[in-house]
Amino acid sequence: MNPLEGKKLIVAVTGGVAAYKAAELVRLLGKAGADVHVVLTRGGARFVTAVTFQALSGNPVWEDLWDARMPNNMAHIDLSRDADAIVIAPASADVIAKLVHGLADDLLTTMCLARDCPLLVAPAMNRQMWEHPATRRNVACLNADGAVVLGPDAGEQACGETGLGRLLEPEALCEQVIGFFAPKLLAGRKVVLTAGPTFEAIDPVRGITNISSGKMGYALALACARAGAQVELVSGPTGLAAPAGVHRTAVNSALQMRDAVLAVLPGTDVFVGVAAVADYAPASVAEHKIKKTQGEMVVTLTPNPDIIAEVAARDDAPFCVGFAAESQDLDRYAEGKRQAKKLQLVVGNLVQDGMGRDDNQIILYDAAGRHPLPRAHKSVLAQLIVEHFASLLAAYLEARTGV
Ligand code: PMT
Repeated sequence: MNPLEGKKLIVAVTGGVAAYKAAELVRLLGKAGADVHVVLTRGGARFVTAVTFQALSGNPVWEDLWDARMPNNMAHIDLSRDADAIVIAPASADVIAKLVHGLADDLLTTMCLARDCPLLVAPAMNRQMWEHPATRRNVACLNADGAVVLGPDAGEQACGETGLGRLLEPEALCEQVIGFFAPKLLAGRKVVLTAGPTFEAIDPVRGITNISSGKMGYALALACARAGAQVELVSGPTGLAAPAGVHRTAVNSALQMRDAVLAVLPGTDVFVGVAAVADYAPASVAEHKIKKTQGEMVVTLTPNPDIIAEVAARDDAPFCVGFAAESQDLDRYAEGKRQAKKLQLVVGNLVQDGMGRDDNQIILYDAAGRHPLPRAHKSVLAQLIVEHFASLLAAYLEARTGV
């Protein structure tokens, strides 16, 4: 299940150095499942050729209002009629001004005037052009007219200046487009998640950890953000980049993870414990590297706090989703954990099925019973988990408020 499967997108490329990023955007949108059709303005074609966009989209590129390839010669109507959105990236100051005033002097502007689908506009221009009162007025007007303005970013510009006006990076733009279409099941909700392993230090270079990659927790954090939630991710050490739209706090040990969770907990509607938290930590951490010459080494371990049990025991406990990683007897252990820790939902998985992998096989356990899901990529499972707990959330929060 690709997030943009079944979506037809028109990507319009106007004149600007950032047009080179549009090539990657077209590739990423296609990879996410979209059927991409490119409209290239005269200015855009000065920077990147139609050949590139045709090769990357797998579809003919449209440049001319009078293109005779459309049987009725009305590309400006037909292109957008069955499209799910038009995405203009990069959008120059000139095209933004034309859109605001309803000018229709080329294929893109005529198509935008005649469209009946959403319009997403990703501006790219020099920082002073972006800050000019005319552009400020035009962008405000574009927003008021219902267009979705994506970015721009701040940073180094092709002209050598630094400031606001950079086109968002293709990955971020693609994510914004995916987020635009995602059902907002968690709009207005705050979700806190833990992910990855913890690292319990023995000395300055050694420690106890596990093979959790963080992939499941990061996929869930992204799915929550796409569903419209404010997302706080408390992550143990992983090599993963923070998902778009997610605020991440990086920690090492279980104690740090607990403190970071408690710090962001106020106002939380949903807590999801995906992290493989070490149950024990060395009772003390050696100040210096322990030398082999010291002979046999004995490490005394003390129990770590159970973060999710502590969160679920609060009077104002959020809806709590726990995970159970077992190597056998999944039903018994997962449902046992749900009841013992007073969780509303537990996601059970066998360690050998999913830990460290890109895909997983999971069973959901809630008050209504067990709900097995087919083996799938973690991004797909994350979406299904979000749909499941979102359907139970309102009733839980209402009951909590009533208490
Ligand atoms: O990271 P990946 O490679 O993608 O792998 C995903 C995963 C296998 C780590 C994930 O799917 C998973 O099962 N996570 C929970 C692993 C685990 O440690 O389960 P547990 O049975 O020990 O803990 C049960 C629940 O209590 C979990 O929600 C855990 O986060 C929480 N817990 C456990 C101990 C502790 N001290 N504090 C906790 O909050």
